Amino acid sequence: MERLQKVIAASGITSRRKAEGYIVEGRVKVNGVVITELGYKVKKGDIVEVDGEQIQKENKVYYVMNKPKKTVCTLSDEFDRKTVVSLIDSPERIFPVGRLDYDTSGVLILTNDGEFANQIIHPAYHIPKTYDVMITGILTTPQIKQLEKGIELDGVMTLPAKVRIRRKDLALKKTKLDLTIQEGRNHQVKKMMEYFGYEVTSLHRKSIGFLKVDDMSQGDYRLLKPYEVKRLRALAMKGKEE
Ligand code: URA
Repeated sequence: MERLQKVIAASGITSRRKAEGYIVEGRVKVNGVVITELGYKVKKGDIVEVDGEQIQKENKVYYVMNKPKKTVCTLSDEFDRKTVVSLIDSPERIFPVGRLDYDTSGVLILTNDGEFANQIIHPAYHIPKTYDVMITGILTTPQIKQLEKGIELDGVMTLPAKVRIRRKDLALKKTKLDLTIQEGRNHQVKKMMEYFGYEVTSLHRKSIGFLKVDDMSQGDYRLLKPYEVKRLRALAMKGKEE
């Protein structure tokens, strides 16, 4: 048995919050009877209608995109900037799993499966995400050690990160590195570099777990294969046990 607003949201016609509004407004019927009670439990086989139209359970879809720079991961933008969702031609109400900044490119998963999304982004599941980072300044060995141990950001320690220096340009005072983190806090990579006084000048997410977009141009996307979704779920489950 599932709550009525959840069943309506799962059909993809609207969000759970808006579904609650529909119920209270008397726009929802179950087996032909108007239900205005939030949290009414729907049984298997019940017929749910919204504004007289029977709803169907939406298929779950999973995409991976190489997010281009100059796009936002919110569903709409107050400055009318292009959203990642608008780049995907999908009849389902998909949303990005976690956020990449406006000026960040790289691996982004989009789906209409909230539970899956939570497993990918929640730090408890420890899925490694690797970023290709360019910073102003030369990252020192003690700083690398600190990143590998964890640093305090906004009062909370980061989980141990992995650092791989790819290039140090002593003349131009720049470092290019791969940084692998297990969380996805807001602007985390930029904040980790700011902690040492460095500015991130370029940021690209190379991978989420095994998932990469090396063979895709920025803005390209594709459906994930069922085995890839399964592998991502398995990775999350493994991370949770560790
Ligand atoms: N960390 C950031 O600072 N920005 C991103 O877009 C992703 C990770």
